[in-house]
Amino acid sequence: MLSLGSGGARQLGQAAGMTQTEQTALVRRAMDLGVNFFDTSSDYGESEVILSRALKDVPRESYYLCTKWPPFVGRELAEDPQLLVNAVDNSLRRLGTDHVEIMMFHGPLSHHYAPLMERFYPTMERLREQGKFRFIGMSVQYGTEPTQAVGDLAVKRDPELWDVLMLKYGLLNQSLAKEVLPLALEHGVGIMNMAAVRVKLPDPDLLQQLMQEWRDKGYVERGDLPDSDPLGWLVHDDVTSVVSAGYKFAADHPAIGTVITGTSNMAHLEENAAALEKPYLPPDDTQRVKELFRNIVEYV
Ligand SMILES: NC(=O)c1ccc[n+]([C@@H]2O[C@H](COP(=O)([O-])OP(=O)(O)OC[C@H]3O[C@@H](n4cnc5c(N)ncnc54)[C@H](OP(=O)(O)O)[C@@H]3O)[C@@H](O)[C@H]2O)c1
Repeated sequence: MLSLGSGGARQLGQAAGMTQTEQTALVRRAMDLGVNFFDTSSDYGESEVILSRALKDVPRESYYLCTKWPPFVGRELAEDPQLLVNAVDNSLRRLGTDHVEIMMFHGPLSHHYAPLMERFYPTMERLREQGKFRFIGMSVQYGTEPTQAVGDLAVKRDPELWDVLMLKYGLLNQSLAKEVLPLALEHGVGIMNMAAVRVKLPDPDLLQQLMQEWRDKGYVERGDLPDSDPLGWLVHDDVTSVVSAGYKFAADHPAIGTVITGTSNMAHLEENAAALEKPYLPPDDTQRVKELFRNIVEYV
């Protein structure tokens, strides 16, 4: 259920200047903890190469890879399908493999959706027929469209064309539970849950500020949550931190196939793996979290 991401703010430790030895140790520790699914992209710095080095000598059949291609030239949607062909070959070369499990369009917005499908989807299908990947997917762009509208379009217009979508669903981002996740489940579209705790849950100050904003906007009733450590009540028994609560909540929907953690910290990786051994909060806490936040449509 837990997978390891190589993007986000950490990019497998690239942002902090971790050495390849440290990056390899992180990836190998993830495998020891039962993680066998790695998410990457041609857009995550050197992540594909770092993963390839980290997984060298690990039997290829013992893990799964998802990579992505941002279909843009500058800020415009690309036009030439050959760019996709080249991008897939380049990703496979960097990853040191002849196939990945999932190939995704990385981060189109809703106004790109129709031209993207027309220009590039047939080429994706052709590349799949050639055995370069098994499943076709798309990820939403982090933060740009609060409603994650491109995911909405995908499950409403073409659910049969998408094997997998990468979306953000979490304790503070529940809006997809209304339509998108039920439709994905109905049509067998797998959901990879990205950025499920980023950025507010790991940062007590940001979280406190957000709750204050939500009170000021009337989203949360004054008195519903303590001013200080507003979600601290979630931490008890096997829920070791607010972040741990966030990953558990993020996993607790039948449409979610995996929750990707973007940590580059070994202790955090261990905590997150432990959190998903029981991928749900106590039912009363889940209910309270839903009542508090389920009608809020923001991207936080
Ligand atoms: N559009 C896209 O395609 C897209 C966008 C975003 C993400 N993604 C994918 O999804 C993956 C995960 O996303 P993400 O990295 O944004 O999200 P995330 O896993 O929700 O959050 C990562 C952040 O949480 C912190 N964190 C994690 N575990 C923690 C713990 N136990 N205690 C305290 N802090 C903790 C991390 O810091 P530490 O390193 O200090 O633990 C990091 O700052 C990415 O790596 C990428 O593969 C894809």
